[in-house]
Amino acid sequence: MSTNQLPAAPLAASHMKVLLTREQIARRVAEMGREISRDFHGQSVVLVGVLKGATIFLAELARRIELDATFDFFGVSSYADSTHRSGEVRLTKDVDTSLEGRNVILVEDILDTGLTMNYLKNVVMTHQPRSFKIAALLDKPARRIQPIEADYLGFTIPNEFVVGYGLDYAEHYRNLPDICILPPEGYSAG
Ligand code: IMP
Repeated sequence: MSTNQLPAAPLAASHMKVLLTREQIARRVAEMGREISRDFHGQSVVLVGVLKGATIFLAELARRIELDATFDFFGVSSYADSTHRSGEVRLTKDVDTSLEGRNVILVEDILDTGLTMNYLKNVVMTHQPRSFKIAALLDKPARRIQPIEADYLGFTIPNEFVVGYGLDYAEHYRNLPDICILPPEGYSAG
């Protein structure tokens, strides 16, 4: 999200409606960790997070996976504002390690239009991984353009703009422990 859309002042979390509490998130992420541990029993996995939104989810999910796991990260920028409706995704940071022959789990905060995940899936596939799965904390199916689904999904949510637990608006709110709905006053230009 570009910084020229900064709100005048970030809203206090107390002015936002909590959609998912930290307890609900922790419980679901623990279940997801158990599912992954079961599916890849006896194997190793590489968790590839998408910067920066997936960092908190990846940190908590990783600690719930009882397997040999390594981390890597992609950076992306997308053009989703009013002047760039093409949905073009650009890689700003590639992975540092080879994904060839690895069990790759792409870890993302939210599946929205699906353009980012579809793009990154194609990038990962060029590495010829042994297997490829997507773990997404949130899914907003109402806005999907690319028909891509998560293999491990935390929660399906309504078509609202959410912040917290890694998700931002203009880089703010990533450190909120709960996932909150950003009200209209949170969008006011600075
Ligand atoms: P997609 O390519 O449209 O699926 O977009 C995925 C990216 O858009 C996510 O990784 C987020 O960075 C961002 N995004 C989509 N919806 C939200 C939201 O409700 N809050 C914060 N970021 C969002």
